[in-house]
Amino acid sequence: TKHFVDMNSDSPTKIVKLIQLSEQFKAGFKVNVKRPVYAANLFFENSTRTHASFYMAEQRLGMTVLDLNMATSSTQKGESLEDTVKTLQALGTDIEVIRHSQNGWYEAMVADKSFTTSLVNGGDGSGQHPSQCLLDLMTIYEEFSYFKGLSIGIIGDLAHSRVAKSDAQLLHKLGANVYFSGPKEWYDESFTPYGQYVENIDELIEKLDVVMLLRVQLERLNTNSVKQFKALDYHTQFGLTKARLKKAKQQAIIMHPAPVNRGVEIDSDLVESPQSRIFKQMANGVFARMAILASLLDEKGLLQEDLNID
Ligand code: CP
Repeated sequence: TKHFVDMNSDSPTKIVKLIQLSEQFKAGFKVNVKRPVYAANLFFENSTRTHASFYMAEQRLGMTVLDLNMATSSTQKGESLEDTVKTLQALGTDIEVIRHSQNGWYEAMVADKSFTTSLVNGGDGSGQHPSQCLLDLMTIYEEFSYFKGLSIGIIGDLAHSRVAKSDAQLLHKLGANVYFSGPKEWYDESFTPYGQYVENIDELIEKLDVVMLLRVQLERLNTNSVKQFKALDYHTQFGLTKARLKKAKQQAIIMHPAPVNRGVEIDSDLVESPQSRIFKQMANGVFARMAILASLLDEKGLLQEDLNID
């Protein structure tokens, strides 16, 4: 069974094909399923963009969607994620889109060949967020048409960010120059293979083609850290202010996976500024997720068309 749980083992050729397929869907490309296809969405952690855009993508691909409310599911009675997925598989679902707080929730199920349903990672704790990664790559590719040599700064709450991990690994693989900035205590050595840490954002910003900001994830900080966190201080030291943006290249773009803490990571006015691609990222998310789901349907032999992704 093919799954989409991270993009780390994907070749640059496959990644570019997925970006191109996302663009084809954006241009109106349609696929036809050979039989009714059923997708289940299981969001154990909060979500607006990922959940809604997977739902849109599933609908646009002609799937029937079981959109489960995990707060009222039998997981609340102690049923495990594995048994929940086995149950949905027994009911006849073909694809499960899952967001869960546990890093690597998918690992045992991917290794277990009795799972014939396809697992899609909608974000695992502070692990990976591969569908966000694809929509981010799509947005960067639309702007520049290449990755090699682009300077991309990922700035903010790196330690808790699954987006930072997925994006840094893939951008490095595609030949971009990746830089990290933000509070030193939120940087860890696991990022070192993928790019360079520059604490002073004012030094970094001048060289960037992409200024990618991360949300400060107060829900993942311990109580003491939340008490000590000063939004204004963070904004002054690491936030994208209007004055800082003036130091960046005129063609530099601003990205943020959202939700945005306006006035913390970024000056609120800059969210809708001409250099911002934040809402474009969200729009692209539907097409990137169509590409992910269609590539799985293709692998499962459920499409009339041959997408030729692998
Ligand atoms: N970017 C992102 O994953 O947003 P949601 O948490 O709203 O899905």
